[in-house]
Amino acid sequence: MKHSRRVFLEAGLVLPAVLNSVTELAAAQTPVTAPSKDSSFDPWVEIHRENLRHNVQEISRRVSFRPILAVIKNNGYGTGVANIAQLLEPQSEIFGFAVVKFHEAVSLRDAGIRKPILLLGPFDEQNLADAVARDILPMVYTPLGPALDRIAARTQKPVPLHICIDTGIGRVGVPYHQAARLVRDLASRKPARIAGTMMTFTEDPDFDKEQLRRFNEICSSLEKEGIALGKKHAASSFALFQHPDAFFDIVRPGMAIYGIYSENEFRHTSVLDLRPAISLKARVIYVKKLRKGDSAGYNRAYMAKDDVWVATLPVGHADGWPRTAAKGAKVRINGDLYPVIASVSASHCIVEIGSEEKVKIGDTANFFDSQPGSRPEDVSESCGASVYDLTMHLNPLLPRRIL
Ligand SMILES: Cc1ncc(COP(=O)(O)O)c(C=O)c1O
Repeated sequence: MKHSRRVFLEAGLVLPAVLNSVTELAAAQTPVTAPSKDSSFDPWVEIHRENLRHNVQEISRRVSFRPILAVIKNNGYGTGVANIAQLLEPQSEIFGFAVVKFHEAVSLRDAGIRKPILLLGPFDEQNLADAVARDILPMVYTPLGPALDRIAARTQKPVPLHICIDTGIGRVGVPYHQAARLVRDLASRKPARIAGTMMTFTEDPDFDKEQLRRFNEICSSLEKEGIALGKKHAASSFALFQHPDAFFDIVRPGMAIYGIYSENEFRHTSVLDLRPAISLKARVIYVKKLRKGDSAGYNRAYMAKDDVWVATLPVGHADGWPRTAAKGAKVRINGDLYPVIASVSASHCIVEIGSEEKVKIGDTANFFDSQPGSRPEDVSESCGASVYDLTMHLNPLLPRRIL
């Protein structure tokens, strides 16, 4: 008898209680073979290389082959920041990467990424010096000129940067009506190299037009003064669909690269054919029949109206599966979709299988994948969780498998 996890899993069919102590059981058997990845009960995230490649090509076609600054913030939207950069870097359509956290930018260089990295997030002077040393471009919107002079005096190197103008989002960026002064100051400093100028839309279709007008106005007045603003950029995934007049020199999408429509209504247009490149999967750990009147979940959130089979899955909100999934999301097992019932707890959820025992322990459950009906947008539509939450909240500790 081979002592693989799959064997223990089969034993679990007969002795379900043993399943809760797989490690102890493994320890009791000698010799123990290393658990194969395929039989682990831990949930995992899959990243689909081919779909990523397809999405990048689709975006490139849509933007008439302008370069793509890929937003890979928040752990690469769940894929793993270094994983995604390594997968995307060889594609010629990819100009570079944008992240928010300083440590993400540093980790990309440590992972050997060579294309430009734009740091959208905050930094202090020491971070800035470290960023410059690693060829990481800071996004600037405060009077940093004196710090740039000090750093350049030490390194004798120019400091390339992008300027962020706030045209109405009110988050980061120099307010558009004060931008000219900052840009003139930076442009006048010897070490500063304005490599780019950017803005972010609020994604309110009417107000976006006003934001674009403000951005165009400030940029053209500065350019008339002879100030070079570098590559201008504004287009996130939303703008890829809505604002072709804002594609500028490079585009800056995140979600579309991962093959997910940021707004459900975009699915029903033919603007971009996006194929999800992220899936969340796990194996069924337990199957049982509830009798009529039995309950499931904390606070007895679910009551069986009739005898019914249910399956327990080892995925909960601590893994990134939203609590709201219990309000209508479905999980695909063996090709069929089953509703999440009761409540999503930290490490588990339960799906209703029906009157027949159609699934068994060890079957693969797809929480979201690239198939119609179980795409992230389908989960989002069914239970109200945003596709950004579904991807970005994936626990960074879950194993990532690149297919
Ligand atoms: C400044 C900035 N640009 C671009 C993006 C990409 O947005 P999306 O994932 O909607 O394409 C983001 C993400 O929120 C962002 O913060």
